[in-house]
Amino acid sequence: MSAEPALAHRAALRAQFPILAQRINGQSLVYLDNAATTQMPLAVLDATRQFETTTRANIHRGVHTLSQRATDAFEAARTSVKRFVGAGEEHELVFTSGTTEALNLVAQGLSHGLDGRAGAIGPGDEIIVSGLEHHANLVPWQQAARRSGATLRILLPDAQGQLHEDALARLLSPRSRVFALTACANASGERSPYEALLALAQEAGALTVLDAAQAVSHSAMQLDTLACDFMAFSAHKMYGPMGIGALVGRRAALERLTPVRFGGDMVQSVSYQGAVFAELPARLEGGTPNVTGAVGMAAAASFIESIGQHALETHLADLRQRAVRGLQQIDGITVLSAQTPVSAIVSFVVQGVHPHDIGTLLDARGIAVRTGHHCAQPLLDHLGTGPTTRASLAIYNTLDEVERLLSGVSHAIGVLR
Ligand code: ALA
Repeated sequence: MSAEPALAHRAALRAQFPILAQRINGQSLVYLDNAATTQMPLAVLDATRQFETTTRANIHRGVHTLSQRATDAFEAARTSVKRFVGAGEEHELVFTSGTTEALNLVAQGLSHGLDGRAGAIGPGDEIIVSGLEHHANLVPWQQAARRSGATLRILLPDAQGQLHEDALARLLSPRSRVFALTACANASGERSPYEALLALAQEAGALTVLDAAQAVSHSAMQLDTLACDFMAFSAHKMYGPMGIGALVGRRAALERLTPVRFGGDMVQSVSYQGAVFAELPARLEGGTPNVTGAVGMAAAASFIESIGQHALETHLADLRQRAVRGLQQIDGITVLSAQTPVSAIVSFVVQGVHPHDIGTLLDARGIAVRTGHHCAQPLLDHLGTGPTTRASLAIYNTLDEVERLLSGVSHAIGVLR
């Protein structure tokens, strides 16, 4: 392993994140809750401040200059974020409030009808969801199945938390309408073989949905090479603002979604009796969007591109490897998905010790981790681990911080056992 990951100018990089230069409970902050929310660099804060102080106006509504400039900024952000995920000519991007809204938009959009017509999913159809999912990529499908009369099937992982193509092949049938999958499980850190699984499902005729929230900040997603109809992700997990995210997908697939947010800007014409809906993407973006957020999301994408996803992945892989090895040397610790390739998440359980107690003692040392079920209770129940302690890494984390995590965990176990 390299002495320190291969990112040049580490001090300058840390300086981009002023929030990290503080003490928590008397200790310098070690922020390891990046799977929940990453911090924002000055480049993103500056871009949003610049927009707010020079360009803020509502979009698509005014002939006045500021409104036109705001519209241009919003559309430029759309173009940048599309490029960031490798969207091609056949793709379109809809801004949402985040991954949860994007996934709900797909599940509701396929199961709701419009103007008295049935939705794309109906009785007898089947929806397949992987067993690794965050509640945001499970509960909307449970509701879609109930609403439409479809059957929900779960692609269960094996005892190590891994998904397999042959298991999916056994579940797929001519009735499979949708296959929904995460690129990286937020609770275990498992990096799924999503390329192969999506291809298999698409070949069988299902629409494919990828939750990329835990991958997009460090894995170069090339949408135009994936058998993916819909991909969802959030800015706040990729060094951008909260309250903004995206649903990007094949235009033909997005056109199958019934709009679920009716109102201004998503209509072409309206009478007292009915409405003609606008073309994509406006059709799925009713109401005033989070324009500042979109500008910040585009700045976050540029920030990641300026570092390079390959450098980022190498850095995270080094840190994760050290964290996993160190934790495995502590008696009674089991690390979930220890061997998974390219993940920023280290989730573990300690025999006889509750994760909340570990999290509290780590916090007393200035170390921020998340504890609990991580909004993925069915997976942790299936694996039989119960709640976990989860450390999640980002570009600004260092080997020293991983060492502080390891000594913090050892100390906590000593106190609690
Ligand atoms: N989905 C976020 C997490 O995994 C909140 O922590």
